Amino acid sequence: MKKIAVDGPSGAGKSTMVKALAEKYGLLYVDTGAIYRVVGLYALRAGIGREEIDKLIPLLPAIKVSLTHDGEGQHVFLGDEEVTRLIRTPEVSLYASDVSALPEVRAKLLDLQRDFARKYDVIMDGRDIGTVVLPDAELKIFLTASAEERARRRTLELLAKGVDVTYEDTLRQVRERDYNDSHRAVAPLKPACDAVIVDTTGRGIEETIGLLSELVEKRFGI
Ligand code: DC
Repeated sequence: MKKIAVDGPSGAGKSTMVKALAEKYGLLYVDTGAIYRVVGLYALRAGIGREEIDKLIPLLPAIKVSLTHDGEGQHVFLGDEEVTRLIRTPEVSLYASDVSALPEVRAKLLDLQRDFARKYDVIMDGRDIGTVVLPDAELKIFLTASAEERARRRTLELLAKGVDVTYEDTLRQVRERDYNDSHRAVAPLKPACDAVIVDTTGRGIEETIGLLSELVEKRFGI
């Protein structure tokens, strides 16, 4: 099975790039951030404050997260409820970052992610795919961009979806999540030692897809 790991901070363009590469090379796109978001949504709905997030730990066995894929892309479920859209709010983003710092949450979600790589040719995006989830992936890419550029992109994306946000708020949240994601004790955001680092600041979508395609084709001899 082919395995490609794409890690990097939020807003670096991972999902756009990974979607394009998955389509081009017939790989299953697994967006692992979505499952942390489902757990974050559960915590939010359970009325747990962000400063007391470890109150979630005893509730973890009751949280059923699942993923399916079809022509429209990935769908995520909390129990029987589809929450694919509900997990995309700024509030859930912050909760997702908080719950992802809990080792118990990371352990719970590990098998779910590895299962896909056992069964399919995958391109998986997240924060610790190359370092923890798929350390034996044939190709590891670390996609990054400046915080300002990532906040600009994220603001445009949310406005287009009808979410009411400002650039300043988004930049603050991008910085807060960067800090949380890279300073947590378990599986912090960092490039695997054998990852190729690609900085997308100032690069257009097509240019970046071209760059990444070269990496894929070279690695798999396509
Ligand atoms: O990629 P995203 O913004 O949807 O991810 C939401 C949060 O989940 C993010 O703050 C970090 C966390 N995450 C993680 O810790 N490990 C992953 N493999 C994917 C996401």
